[in-house]
Amino acid sequence: MAKIELNKTYKGNCIELANTLENESIDCIITSPPYYNSSHKYQRGTGFHYTADVGEPLYVIQDVFEALKPKLKEDGIICLNLGFSYGETGVMRPFDIVNRLREKGGYFVNDVVIWHKNNPIPMQNRLTNAIEYIFILSKHPIGKYYTKKYTHNVWKFSVDGGGKGHSAVFPIDLPLNCIEHFTQENDVVLDCFMGSGTTAEACVKTKRNFIGFEINQDYIDLTEKRVEKFLNNFTEPSLFGNEM
Ligand SMILES: C[S@@+](CC[C@H](N)C(=O)[O-])C[C@H]1O[C@@H](n2cnc3c(N)ncnc32)[C@H](O)[C@@H]1O
Repeated sequence: MAKIELNKTYKGNCIELANTLENESIDCIITSPPYYNSSHKYQRGTGFHYTADVGEPLYVIQDVFEALKPKLKEDGIICLNLGFSYGETGVMRPFDIVNRLREKGGYFVNDVVIWHKNNPIPMQNRLTNAIEYIFILSKHPIGKYYTKKYTHNVWKFSVDGGGKGHSAVFPIDLPLNCIEHFTQENDVVLDCFMGSGTTAEACVKTKRNFIGFEINQDYIDLTEKRVEKFLNNFTEPSLFGNEM
């Protein structure tokens, strides 16, 4: 495969695409992996695993972050967004995943951010689930971020209302906040599960470079449209939107 270029999204399985990146070329990874709704089989080692099965998506995430480890700079940071569902696999799932990355992947868990949703879907006879996590991982402990203002680790913003042709879109403030705290201008930010391109849009808005991986061409088309739309109406980046 040709050398990876900046500010493009590549089609394919992120585990394979990860291997095409140059070593220590990525400053930050901001991503939200899929783990409930895909329907194909996945082979790991000699066995087949199904995406609906509790164990399998852990392996996808474990494998991609194993492949990405040499590609991340020594002081690079991963912002890994994970939510949970009561019905399917339980509230400990994000922690199970991160524990694997810690114990088997050798990553350090530098911080945990709680994304507090302003508009969660109300649940009857249960506590409405109004949070997701953003785990801040790194190869080594990091004591200082690029944060310029007082802030804390509960970030409040609304679930994106949709209309972007994708069912699990980040609110734009999520990657914007990560970019503000963990990157500098011209840094290279990878989203290995790019979806509709929210991370790409946040990067072009803030003068960061992005690289995207995405398995579905329709979503790559969406990403390209979002980036183009922003570049065609370009004005200086607005202040980072962070409702604390
Ligand atoms: C939760 S969505 C990401 C949404 C994204 N944060 C956004 O704002 O639109 C996960 C994405 O990963 C993609 N995906 C699933 N398995 C993949 C794989 N093995 N390699 C690359 N992309 C994959 C799916 O098609 C989906 O678009």
